Amino acid sequence: MTLKIAFIGGGNMATALVRGLAAQTPRPALTVSEPDPAKHAAFQALGATTTTDNAAAVAGADVIVLAIKPQVAPQVVPGLAGTWTSGKLLVSILAGAPTRKLEGWLPPGARVVRAMPNTPLAIGVGMTGLVKGAHASDADLATADSLFAPMGQVLRVSDESRMDAITAVSGSGPAYFFRFAEALVDAAMALGFTRDEAVLLVGQTGKGSWQYLLESGFQATRLREQVTSPGGTTAAALAELTKADFTGLWTTALKAAEARGKELGKG
Ligand SMILES: NC(=O)c1ccc[n+]([C@@H]2O[C@H](COP(=O)([O-])OP(=O)(O)OC[C@H]3O[C@@H](n4cnc5c(N)ncnc54)[C@H](OP(=O)(O)O)[C@@H]3O)[C@@H](O)[C@H]2O)c1
Repeated sequence: MTLKIAFIGGGNMATALVRGLAAQTPRPALTVSEPDPAKHAAFQALGATTTTDNAAAVAGADVIVLAIKPQVAPQVVPGLAGTWTSGKLLVSILAGAPTRKLEGWLPPGARVVRAMPNTPLAIGVGMTGLVKGAHASDADLATADSLFAPMGQVLRVSDESRMDAITAVSGSGPAYFFRFAEALVDAAMALGFTRDEAVLLVGQTGKGSWQYLLESGFQATRLREQVTSPGGTTAAALAELTKADFTGLWTTALKAAEARGKELGKG
């Protein structure tokens, strides 16, 4: 039987997910409900049906993927309750929206799975955390997993409070790598390279090092030691990072992201 999936919100994340799902065999029936008709053509080109009517999209679907901004959820989600039936599953990708809040806007017993994807999903290399709400089953979790697995890797957790930690590590994570790239390019320019030269040196080194790391089975320590001769240039640079408590800085940063996630979840 063909799975019928409706997206509420047709923005960046929905686009990435629909692209991944449209390439699956058997292909699910896809509907996207999005208020801006200018965004419909891209989904239609992927074979999805489009609408501006959220309730109609929910009525015709088995799985409803909530892909709106968290700020509009209090106006949008209660509006889905009228067409909700017990056979439906809500998969929410909203940052900082606990399952109990989403369940509270829907009829009693509504099945909800919460997901935390990240932006590399857009190029098929995403990392998504998943947890089920109070009424969802293991089969629901497996259904949610199948939406994200075509676009990367999935980690399932059983304790919802871990979602704030997942948000801190992999949800926000791409920004840490991008910030690191910005800092290295700036630092290379401080050594006298043009921006283009710095981007080439940093970009190719980043690409090669990351590939090397993955191919080694993530042996970061061994590969780092290979580059670091005692008293050499790498050792001089790494000593500065140790002085600045590099690991401590990252632990503080991730704890700040986790704490902010907890705060947002309460609001
Ligand atoms: N981007 C990330 O890194 C990331 C990572 C993990 C999770 N998330 C979560 O993913 C969700 C979507 O993010 P995004 O980057 O895809 O946002 P986005 O591009 O802004 O997409 C949201 C879409 O929802 C539409 N929308 C607004 N009101 C609506 C309504 N009443 N009914 C149906 N659709 C409505 C918006 O249309 P208009 O533009 O016309 O208003 C927009 O197209 C967010 O909740 C975010 O927390 C994002």
